[in-house]
Amino acid sequence: LATPVEMDTDVLQLLAKVVGRDDLIVDRDLMGAYETDATGRFGERALCIVRPSSSDEVADVLKVCGRASTRVVIQGGNTGLAGGGVPCDGEVVVRMDHLNEIASHEGDPWHLVAGAGATLAEVREAARKAGLEFALDFPARDSATVGGMVATNAAGPTALRWGPMRAQLAGLEAVTATGAVLSRLVPVSKDNAGYDWPALIAGSEGTLAVVTRARLRLHTPPAARDVFMIGAANYDDAVGLTSCLRSGLGSRLEALDFIDRPSVELVCATRRLREPLPATHGVYLVGTVLTEHEGDGPALELLARELPDLPDEAIVGAVDGAGRRRLWEYREAINEALRARGEVHKYDVSLPLQRLPSFAAGLTEDLARRPELAVYLYGHLGDGNVHVNLLGVTGFDRALDDLILERVASLGGSIDAEHGVGLAKRDHLGLTRTDAELALMRDVKRMLDPVGILGSGRVVVSEERP
Ligand code: MLT
Ligand code: ZN
Repeated sequence: LATPVEMDTDVLQLLAKVVGRDDLIVDRDLMGAYETDATGRFGERALCIVRPSSSDEVADVLKVCGRASTRVVIQGGNTGLAGGGVPCDGEVVVRMDHLNEIASHEGDPWHLVAGAGATLAEVREAARKAGLEFALDFPARDSATVGGMVATNAAGPTALRWGPMRAQLAGLEAVTATGAVLSRLVPVSKDNAGYDWPALIAGSEGTLAVVTRARLRLHTPPAARDVFMIGAANYDDAVGLTSCLRSGLGSRLEALDFIDRPSVELVCATRRLREPLPATHGVYLVGTVLTEHEGDGPALELLARELPDLPDEAIVGAVDGAGRRRLWEYREAINEALRARGEVHKYDVSLPLQRLPSFAAGLTEDLARRPELAVYLYGHLGDGNVHVNLLGVTGFDRALDDLILERVASLGGSIDAEHGVGLAKRDHLGLTRTDAELALMRDVKRMLDPVGILGSGRVVVSEERP
């Protein structure tokens, strides 16, 4: 029988044959960059890094690993926040950056076909060059990739108007754990012929199949966008404003995020920005409105009509590009500002909108017993999506995870809104999924990945595991 070291050597040689020596990284120093993610909390030592250049190479990599029962983790831009894209000990990291081709006009002018390794910024630029727009956008745009975005069903502020990544898919190509290349990239917008397997792969976080290409929907850009910021006294008022804005603006409201007071203070201090509004507020709403005419700033007039009781000093608007970016900077710069202060412990959860104030109040009460922690809340208010960020947590803190996620579950929310379950929340999945749902997920996992090599131990843990 071969020893584990001999088996690894065999696997490495076979992988080198598939991708070529230059695209197999085994140097410990070079591997470091792929072994940990943006949170700094997850990641162990990889067996190696492989960089396939085609779907067939991905299939061959998976066949080699499957035969040797060697586990694999798929990595896009490594911007993940739940530990789903970095290795557990001894895993092969399949890095998708070579599959980054983007093809416009592939049979439908309102679609483009992008390789898994293309970044969000590259997709947005390709759409712009075609005179169209890709709906999603978020701060990690220069690194986050199409494959990772499909795998996590990524969202961001504009998902309020356009839906998450799954809704942007007109087709998909993916490779199953056994090395079968599934391709559904035909240029049709409606396709009900059989099960919608691309929808299943979207959000499966690299545990069911490897996304290699996606056919993405584009839309005609609006004539202009107005951005506004509103100060609210507290979460009750913020939720009240959200209801008014959503019903008043309808589909013109593209994004509606919130920022709590500590986050505003943090960004002002880190970026040396002035206060966004003349007075200070408990919660800040920042939003984007799609408009029909460039430069006439109708959003503010519209907001004034929708929100007649709002004092003038609690609202500010921007109609030009620089002003729009300036207002969104208070929101987009928070994550980076937090990371500059140390390891950030993140929970990405969603609540029924009306329960968001109870959640925030309960959290404040819970965390009062942990004065060493600094709490920052922000997120996608229109979707009831709260990013809970904590500074001062050391290592893994199961008691804290239980406290926060059980509170979310007790209020009828979800323990994961857009970042993914990954390793971070796999042990809490049962809080908001029934036993029957978990059994179904395990069955699907076993069927598509019988040996259990793909993203093993993430999302849904098999019953046999301790
Ligand atoms: C965001 O909304 O900025 C992202 O989800 C990342 C984060 O939680 O900071
Ligand atoms: Zn977010």
